[in-house]
Amino acid sequence: MKLILLGAPGAGKGTQAEIICKHCSIPAISTGNIIRAALKAQTEMGLRARDYIEKGLLVPDEVVIGIIQDRLSEDDCADGFILDGFPRTVPQAEALDKMGIEIDRVIDLEVPDEKIIERMSGRRVCAHCGASYHLLYKQPKTEGVCDNCGEQLVQRADDKAETVLERLKVYHAQTEPLIAFYRAKGKLHVVEGQDEIADTTALTLKALED
Ligand code: AP5
Repeated sequence: MKLILLGAPGAGKGTQAEIICKHCSIPAISTGNIIRAALKAQTEMGLRARDYIEKGLLVPDEVVIGIIQDRLSEDDCADGFILDGFPRTVPQAEALDKMGIEIDRVIDLEVPDEKIIERMSGRRVCAHCGASYHLLYKQPKTEGVCDNCGEQLVQRADDKAETVLERLKVYHAQTEPLIAFYRAKGKLHVVEGQDEIADTTALTLKALED
């Protein structure tokens, strides 16, 4: 199964990718996580990406296409993968085609902007391992502490209200055209994001079976 999760920032792509990858035994690949890890490690790519991320803008296509090309050539992707956050522009989707990668399904997680803003303001992530939580919808066992590694939970720098608005603007202008792109290829399945994470998972798994 080669799967793409499309959707606005905060639509729940990462949350669903984490669940579905265990269900299907395939890796979930998040360009956002790869870029944040590079930023933390202060690699050349990470430092180049910092300005874009902090402003809520997309990192240039050639950078993320290179990241994905390298990652998809690794052995664990041989039987399939879930792409979370890639492609995000039509040129990125065309680059996947040029790599000869045949995508099976594209799930578009639809969540209204007002709900996105609420979700992002309540998201907390582990400063150490990057695990993601929500103050209301996905609480850690101990407040402010990561269940996985015991480190402190923080708000992502790009989850500040003004940056979220910019990210939504960028999503509508640059990523939303991918809905028509994949619909035209007959690959698109729309899943209405639900208030409970498990309900969205149930709909997503159903869309994978259809
Ligand atoms: P990235 O990390 O990919 O951010 P994003 O797409 O903006 O997605 P998020 O991680 O913010 O949200 P999500 O949809 O995964 O939602 P989540 O599951 O966490 O990218 C960051 C930046 O990197 C970009 O802005 C860009 O600069 C750069 N970048 C990355 N990829 C790129 C690319 N291909 N090209 C160019 N630049 C790129 O859920 C959000 C919150 O809601 C969580 O707290 C969660 O617990 C909660 N939640 C989830 N589902 C539900 C539910 N059903 N009900 C209630 N709460 C829920």
